[in-house]
Amino acid sequence: MVEPIRKTTREERERFIKEAHYNIFQLKSEHVYIDLITDSGTGSMTDRQWAAMMLGDESYAGASSFFKLKEAITKITGFEYVIPTHQGRAAENVLFSYLIKAGDIIPGNSHFDTTKGHIESRKAIALDCTIDEAKDTQLEIPFKGNVDPKKLEKALAENAAKIPFIIVTITNNTAGGQPVSMQNLKEIRAIADKYNKPVLFDSARFAENAYFIKVREKGYANKTIKEITKEMFALADGMTMSAKKDAIVNMGGFIATRREDWYEGAKVFCIPFEGFLTYGGMNGRDMNALAVGLDENTEFDNLETRIKQVEYLASRLDEFGIPYQRPAGGHAIFVDATKVLTHVPKEEFPAQTLTIELYLEAGIRGCEIGYLLADRDPVTRENRFGGLDLLRLAIPRRVYTNNHMDVIAVALKNVFDRRESITHGVKIVWEAELMRHFTVKLERL
Ligand code: F0G
Repeated sequence: MVEPIRKTTREERERFIKEAHYNIFQLKSEHVYIDLITDSGTGSMTDRQWAAMMLGDESYAGASSFFKLKEAITKITGFEYVIPTHQGRAAENVLFSYLIKAGDIIPGNSHFDTTKGHIESRKAIALDCTIDEAKDTQLEIPFKGNVDPKKLEKALAENAAKIPFIIVTITNNTAGGQPVSMQNLKEIRAIADKYNKPVLFDSARFAENAYFIKVREKGYANKTIKEITKEMFALADGMTMSAKKDAIVNMGGFIATRREDWYEGAKVFCIPFEGFLTYGGMNGRDMNALAVGLDENTEFDNLETRIKQVEYLASRLDEFGIPYQRPAGGHAIFVDATKVLTHVPKEEFPAQTLTIELYLEAGIRGCEIGYLLADRDPVTRENRFGGLDLLRLAIPRRVYTNNHMDVIAVALKNVFDRRESITHGVKIVWEAELMRHFTVKLERL
């Protein structure tokens, strides 16, 4: 599928971003030249996926599309119980409604914002146990998304009774699209077993994670991606999935598990929130496309082409000396805004400021993964400045060419070259209590 994209003038962009309250989520897509807001639901489907859509079975109950999807999921993950949902956060909502109660603690590696939102809205705590190395953007290590086994063990030793499960996000989006090693998944499993706790994978980019295991971890070079994903999921009790990423569909998600009790518990919430158990928020045709997408994107060549494009963009940024979370992530480059806009104080949101500057420069829409996204501490209501403040350039799958990557790199270089002159950021004039970055209204200082 090919779509036209439109150029705008700087003057127009000044107006559009002001009207959007300096929040890129409020921009119209037609005012965006290259859209890197997300790699979620923005990929381009294949001929086989489009063909499968024509065979969608839209029966309310027992649709063949559901059984095709279930079979594809079981083949790749080994999980036999499947609940389709309309996207990843819906899978979280359904499963967490069963698993989490007020006062619980959910340890994991940099919970994604919707995951954190679904934990915190249930008055539970998302405890980040990511390795400390992930915070040093210039440190180059192969598995920067890992869970720190010492932090995890400490959490369990102190609070085992309050921990219903451990969550591992593969790849670790918030830490920069960084993978988790098989070795680490094994260590997590061993700790979980010691305390008799289940492990849940937030699996949005599990195939990209498997690619990194194949190319970076000893002993996996000769294994296929499908062999690696099977081995990964053998270490978990279940998964939530946003199929909009690594299954390359525009909408879709699911819960899959080997535990009958999770299935029985979650299904009660699926019916009122999502829909009947054999469609749960999806059309038959979408389940068909998802089944094909899962199969296709667990092949090495597809993943290699995609991840090499992200690496290409990284190599162009290296030429210009622009600092980003190293090494390049699977789905995105995360520019280290606090290292670029050194004159913008943290209270004025450097990464959001850089996001606005890149849009003004060339109509390129990135996304802040930083202090705005981090929300306020639920107890103190203070801004959380403890993490990284990044501008994410998420690359949609099979959409842009390396020519677009060149445009992105040079636009960012132009902003980088005038970084010393950028001394003021933004202030919040309105914000929601949870997941504020989607709707926040800002003013330029
Ligand atoms: N988990 C991870 C790791 C994610 O990256 C996302 C979504 C979700 C869960 C929720 O899935 O959007 O289908 O409801 N991430 C997108 C992003 C939105 O831009 O990174 P969803």
